Amino acid sequence: MLEVRDLHVRFGQAHILQGVSLAVGARPVAIVGRNGMGKTTLCQAVMGLVGTSEGSIAFAGQKLDGLAPFRVARRGVALVPQGRRTFPSLSVDEHLRLVATRGAAWTIPRVYETFPRLAERRRNGGTELSGGEQQMLAIARALLMNPKLVIMDEPSEGLAPVIVDHLIDVLRGLPADGMGLLLVEQNLRVATAVAEEISIMVTGRIAATMPARDLAEDQDAQRRYLGVAASGH
Ligand SMILES: Nc1ncnc2c1ncn2[C@@H]1O[C@H](COP(=O)(O)OP(=O)(O)OP(=O)(O)O)[C@@H](O)[C@H]1O
Ligand SMILES: [Mg+2]
Repeated sequence: MLEVRDLHVRFGQAHILQGVSLAVGARPVAIVGRNGMGKTTLCQAVMGLVGTSEGSIAFAGQKLDGLAPFRVARRGVALVPQGRRTFPSLSVDEHLRLVATRGAAWTIPRVYETFPRLAERRRNGGTELSGGEQQMLAIARALLMNPKLVIMDEPSEGLAPVIVDHLIDVLRGLPADGMGLLLVEQNLRVATAVAEEISIMVTGRIAATMPARDLAEDQDAQRRYLGVAASGH
């Protein structure tokens, strides 16, 4: 579905993505890595939010790189951006009604059923929501677009542990809706619970790809690639 080949991104002199290749099909794919390694830059490059200098991005066999973000979205790609980016002036319900489509897998009633907290807060404005509630809203907004592929940039950030467990269930259910998932996570527990294979990003490259079970058990690799604090246990 998504095919990224030898992708490079430069910000001025800084060579941030240094040849990333990856493919996302029907099964969720997870990328983990320390701070500043280029994970968000990769998400933004796929979404058309930053320009690329070399390499290619294809989606469903069609070239994606060079398209404006709204055109990427129309092709069926949605992003849950790091830091949520919800609208302070809109209520929960207004956020959802902005993107909802009829007759699709994800509807507003389904969102409220899946995230009861959002139903309780439906009339509240963006600024009245906690960080975790904003994160849920950002996730719900992307799902409501019923994309073919959803890119989530650290969706568990700021969520209480019990909500993280719930998020894992939601993410594991996406293939049943025919939704592909590219998941960027610092929380190894989430990444390994959702994806069968994990790619590790180190300074703008995919340094290794391994079965989730192997990484979950390999404390040496966790220390080397993620730092002890990021092991998620
Ligand atoms: N617009 C920009 N201009 C210049 N440098 C940037 C820009 N955006 C990001 N960078 C740099 O690119 C590198 C990769 O950043 P990026 O946000 O992609 O990392 P990340 O892996 O998502 O980190 P984190 O885990 O903290 O979210 C960092 O060194 C960052 O400072
Ligand atoms: Mg990031």
